[in-house]
Parts: sequence; structure tokens; C-alpha cells
Amino acid sequence: MQDDIDRVLFDEAEILRGIDRVAAEVVAAYEGKEFTVVSVLKGSCVFASDLIRRLPIPLELAFVAASSYGDRTEGGDVKVNFFPAEKEIAGRSLLLVDDILDTGRTLHCLKNELLSRGAASVGTCVFLDKPSRRSVEFEADFRCFEVENLFVVGYGLDFAGRYRNLPYVGALRSEVYERELQAAERSGS
Ligand code: XMP
Repeated sequence: MQDDIDRVLFDEAEILRGIDRVAAEVVAAYEGKEFTVVSVLKGSCVFASDLIRRLPIPLELAFVAASSYGDRTEGGDVKVNFFPAEKEIAGRSLLLVDDILDTGRTLHCLKNELLSRGAASVGTCVFLDKPSRRSVEFEADFRCFEVENLFVVGYGLDFAGRYRNLPYVGALRSEVYERELQAAERSGS
């Protein structure tokens, strides 16, 4: 797995410093309010679990699952696989937590869906932000780090379902995803 990584962008210590900073911002914004952290599966599970343990204020936790691409590095349509139960959304202040804000389509779609299902408010918090790739106008309320236009893996982020368990964020070697894309094309998927 390590051999597929071109370079490490954020190591474990740097990640935790970034999360501490964002956690302080979230606490300042949500202290004294009832709110629910909504983790976007699967990518944000590692970030969300580190983040909530740095929020010493009452909160609830819910999950939403969305996918915007298969085994490829280019985004596609957003598919929402499941939503929290209605009672977890209606009238609640939600904080959507995602691994990476890329084209912006996923969070744009999820925010609108949750508001249309009756959420009182929907804030957004992302671990990584790749502003150069935005295709819809969307900015997160909180973000840990900005990244350049590289395909990144680790700390919850995957390529073809792998690398989520790396404790750091690294840029995937281009040969690795080119190899996968060629294999997918050959098999017609
Ligand atoms: P959008 O384009 O909707 O994308 O903002 C959000 C989702 O796309 C995935 N994504 C990535 N996953 N490395 C990854 O492992 C990346 O560099 C990357 N860029 C986008 C991710 O699932 C995210 O939630």
C-alpha cells in the first residue's frame, strides 16, 4: 500500500493539529445549541470520529451515504444511498461532515436534500478542500486543509475502495490509477 503513494501531504501530527483548530471553530459556532453531526459515508468516517471527540459539547451523530463516482478519479452524478431517519433531520441544526470538497456536487446536493426534508439549518465541515476543481458554487463553513489538484488517499479517502486505513493523507502515484482505469476499461465497467 505504501508503495502506491507518491508523497505524504499531511502526516498524523499535522492532521490532528488541523482538526484541533477546526474543532475550536465548531465549538464556538455550536456551543449552547442542540445539533447533529451528519457524517457522509464512507469517506468521512475517520475524520468525523476524530472530530467529534474534540467537541466537548452535547451533540448527536447521524450518517448519510452518498457516492459520486465508482472506481474512477473523476466525479460523476451524486447518488444518495441513504438518509438519516426523518426525526433526526426535521427541525434539527445539522453539521454535514465530509472528507473532501472537490467539485462541490456532493455537499451541494446533500445540503439541499436535507433542507428540503425539514432541517432547520445545515452547516458544512470538510477535512480537505480542493477549490481548483469546483464545478458548482459551494464553500464549506469549516475546513481543515486546502489541497492542490491531486488525487489523494488515506485517512478515510479511498481509491477503488482501498487506502482508507492509511493514517496519513498521501498523493496516489499516477501509474496506480492509470493502471486501475485501464483495467476497468478492459473489463467494460
Ligand atoms: P464532490 O466532487 O462531489 O466530491 O465535491 C466529493 C466526493 O468525491 C470523492 N473525491 C475523492 N476521493 N480522493 C478521494 O479519495 C480525492 O482526491 C477525491 N476527490 C473527490 C470523495 O468521496 C468525496 O466525498
